[in-house]
Amino acid sequence: MSEDHEAGETAGAILAEPVNYDADVAAYELATKPRYQNLGFAERYLAGYAGRLKLSTFASYVIARREQNCIAKALETCSPLPSQILDIPCGTGKLADVLIRHNCQVMAADISMEMMALAKTAYEGRPGFQGFVRCDVTQLPMANESFDTVICLRLIHLIPPHLRRKIINELARVTSRRLIVSYGLASRFQRIRLKLRNSITGRVSAPHPVDFSVAREDFSQAGLKLVRSFSILPLLSCEQVFVLEKA
Ligand SMILES: C[S@@+](CC[C@H](N)C(=O)[O-])C[C@H]1O[C@@H](n2cnc3c(N)ncnc32)[C@H](O)[C@@H]1O
Repeated sequence: MSEDHEAGETAGAILAEPVNYDADVAAYELATKPRYQNLGFAERYLAGYAGRLKLSTFASYVIARREQNCIAKALETCSPLPSQILDIPCGTGKLADVLIRHNCQVMAADISMEMMALAKTAYEGRPGFQGFVRCDVTQLPMANESFDTVICLRLIHLIPPHLRRKIINELARVTSRRLIVSYGLASRFQRIRLKLRNSITGRVSAPHPVDFSVAREDFSQAGLKLVRSFSILPLLSCEQVFVLEKA
């Protein structure tokens, strides 16, 4: 067989089924990540938890309040109290009030300019706010141990497995003391609930929930010790917030 012929056949095969094709990666890179980089979507996201209360947005509202309360509780019980916080991804600024109340310096970061544009109302002009940074959490532009506390809310459940550890390691790299991170935890009950929910709504709310043992492995390989955890809405949500400290 000539080399040309072989190359032609390989090229055909690539078109039909790319060698490195991975449905999870494609779904994140081509759908999830760009979805937030759209002003209309960002406005709906903000209205979901901070807009006029409607039946259709009630769950987002309740979950957001619980998230804010859990993060507030997590911060209050930290010793020493946080003084330099990174809020990543900051989204539309859900945590601004909670973080600013703690009398510390806060930097907010996200890959989406559209989400951050809406976070300005919550963050800008507030005491201690240090500004926004557009960046990709897989490759942060910050030096090692730039913050004593890094908070990463509602991201990891969107992340395909091949990137999850990279992100946890990156978050661990830029914090000197602690990481507060939420995961989607996949108990048997939650897997069934998510499947049912997805088939009713047609939307995948937590594409990448993981078993607790997987989350624990992520933490220990990044040199993080689990000190506390909060369930956002037991039974009704798979979201769990973990408070981790550098070992
Ligand atoms: C569900 S929102 C959560 C935002 C905020 N933490 C909250 O709880 O409202 C997910 C956010 O992750 C951001 N995001 C997704 N992939 C990212 C990446 N690779 N680097 C930085 N931000 C990312 C999106 O732009 C979006 O703002």
